Amino acid sequence: MNNPSADRLAGRAVIVTGAASPAGIGFAAARRLAAEGTRLCLTDIDGTAVAARAEELRSEGADAFGLAQDVRDEAGWDAVMGRTVGAYGALDGLVNNAGIVVLALVEQLSIEDWRRQIDVNLTSCFLGCRAAFRHFGPRGGAIVNISSISGLVGSNRTAAYAASKGGIRLMTKSLAIEGGPRNIRVNSVHPGVTETDMQTIARADATGDSAAIAEAIPLRRTTGPDAIAAAIAFLLSSDGDYVTGTELVIDGGLTAQ
Ligand SMILES: NC(=O)c1ccc[n+]([C@@H]2O[C@H](COP(=O)([O-])OP(=O)(O)OC[C@H]3O[C@@H](n4cnc5c(N)ncnc54)[C@H](O)[C@@H]3O)[C@@H](O)[C@H]2O)c1
Repeated sequence: MNNPSADRLAGRAVIVTGAASPAGIGFAAARRLAAEGTRLCLTDIDGTAVAARAEELRSEGADAFGLAQDVRDEAGWDAVMGRTVGAYGALDGLVNNAGIVVLALVEQLSIEDWRRQIDVNLTSCFLGCRAAFRHFGPRGGAIVNISSISGLVGSNRTAAYAASKGGIRLMTKSLAIEGGPRNIRVNSVHPGVTETDMQTIARADATGDSAAIAEAIPLRRTTGPDAIAAAIAFLLSSDGDYVTGTELVIDGGLTAQ
């Protein structure tokens, strides 16, 4: 029997932001999408590193290029969309993945850090969605916004981060309603404890050790970026064709309890 999902992503043109970190969720998603035949524009604030990641994917046979982009920059979004449509003839998908984490007790949280957190994580996501809505063609498109379990539940020292990720969650649902009639699907992904550079930094800054973190998770283990990449690929693909406005939680059961 033929695999009915074998070409579920083939030929689609997708932008992934925050794709420079070799061990990050963005690059894992790009590599997974490339393996399924997606044509890619990888972007990151680190233009040199993202060009190297795109080169890596090309050496594995993918159609991919890298662009320097600060996701906070409004004009930059049009340039990224224009380059992608210019290269591939259309835009089919966007993964709003770029992000930072600011951890602080509320009394120590400066207005500058609050604004930086909201700008990089949430305002960027609005700018990306708006640009994608403007550039999707008549067949529609799919957007995956990377939120977090911090967009679902509160935790210590995450007032700004949780506000940014909770904002992403409900903006996603609003845009799913707005985009539905144009076949634009918009979903959010909520990773739990995922082993990336960001997680290493967050853990170094926190009190809990790795064993205690795993013990709190029903599956008794953290995960790697490939588990998140698989969910992103599903939501962008024809397998996710009837899925919009949903929040896909990949956290080993952490927020089920
Ligand atoms: N790792 C986790 O445990 C975890 C859990 C939940 C959600 N997330 C979310 O997943 C996403 C990816 O995180 P990660 O863990 O892979 O982190 P990471 O730090 O490995 O990668 C983040 C990437 O975003 C880029 N970036 C930062 N600021 C940018 C800007 N202004 N413009 C463009 N690019 C910028 C960085 O250069 C980096 O390549 C983030 O949105 C994060 O909040 C991560």
